[in-house]
Amino acid sequence: MDDVIQFGSLCVQEPADQRTTQPHQLPIYATSSFAFDNLEEGMEVFSGQRAGHLYSRFGNPTIDAVAGKIAALECFGEAYEGAGYLCSSGMGAISTLCLGLLKPGDKILTQRNLYGGTTELFQKMLEPLGLELVLAELDDLAVVERLLNDQPGIRMVYYETPANPTLTCLDIRALSSLAGQHGAYSVADNTFATPDLQRPLQLGADFVLHSTTKYLNGHGNSTSGAIIGKDAERMQEEVFPALKLLGTNCNPWDAWLLNNGMKTLSLRMERHCDNAEAVAQYLSQSPLVSQVHYPGLNSHPQYDLAKRQMRRSGGVVSFELKDGLAAGRRFVNALSLCSIAPTMGDIDTLVMHPASMSHLRVPQEQRLAAGITDGMIRLSVGIEEAVDILADLERGLQAV
Ligand SMILES: Cc1ncc(COP(=O)(O)O)c(C=O)c1O
Repeated sequence: MDDVIQFGSLCVQEPADQRTTQPHQLPIYATSSFAFDNLEEGMEVFSGQRAGHLYSRFGNPTIDAVAGKIAALECFGEAYEGAGYLCSSGMGAISTLCLGLLKPGDKILTQRNLYGGTTELFQKMLEPLGLELVLAELDDLAVVERLLNDQPGIRMVYYETPANPTLTCLDIRALSSLAGQHGAYSVADNTFATPDLQRPLQLGADFVLHSTTKYLNGHGNSTSGAIIGKDAERMQEEVFPALKLLGTNCNPWDAWLLNNGMKTLSLRMERHCDNAEAVAQYLSQSPLVSQVHYPGLNSHPQYDLAKRQMRRSGGVVSFELKDGLAAGRRFVNALSLCSIAPTMGDIDTLVMHPASMSHLRVPQEQRLAAGITDGMIRLSVGIEEAVDILADLERGLQAV
């Protein structure tokens, strides 16, 4: 038979790899699977005798490179290397970690004022599967210790610091130490701070989670999440099977966009912090504002703690307008530079009125119990020129 294939078959074939030198930028490996030169190679990779990619749900060079970079940032300057996985979203990362580590009957101790989606995940998806939620004020360490003593089923202490949108800060070192003494994992959602400002693993946490949709990407053009673990072996044995079987993996395109965004993380965070400090000071002086929540203000209840565990105070400022719901709506509608958007961590300034947006369907009583008042506004302060941001806020306050 002739070795030359027919025209139709040639159309189907992959062209030969033309790469002769290293690409300067991370390539996007848009492939769902990886091919082997022969069956023996395939068997070795399948059996784990030889390192290699098989199928993109299990791992892909683009996704793995970016996950490894976030792990390197979270472990920066430490002796441990850790390990990281990239997920389809922040929620994908949280659910994968919980389902990987916990089994029915285990309890999660967490705070009342978590990101709303995380609370909903715990209550609506994980509790029906037999995981129990224990809600407490995690800034009261005596309460945390009592709960851990009284309820040995607590296998995870899960916290967000600073928390969304109240900016409450929690003591990572103390929570991790208490969790460790009671055989529970310490898990920190580090979305607000990023590893540029705070490194929970260094303070004793076992795992760090991110909605990389936010600051790590920084440009609002991809959705993804990350799980970083200090113990690479535990990541491989307990977290990887959950990622693989739940199929909560990221895709190469979003991973690539995330990598692009991360290149300027350090520069962006500096400017976000400069601008947020200016905004927090400005709002503190307004007679229309009853309270400003920003860990960098010495009026913040955890100011000293934030100073200890964060390099700077971050880019999100929440504040409360004295005149409640109507004032909140007038303020937001009068802004022109800031975009009204239910996300944060982008390079442009974003505004959110939780009572009208993220918490619209949460009963007022429950919302207030989580510290989210009618007049609360969350600003994700961008990297524009500070004078322009302040001028826009002035416009909003005048409308109030
Ligand atoms: C602190 C925090 N964690 C997790 C999430 C969930 O992330 P994603 O929207 O990427 O699923 C969010 C989303 O806003 C968040 O603010």
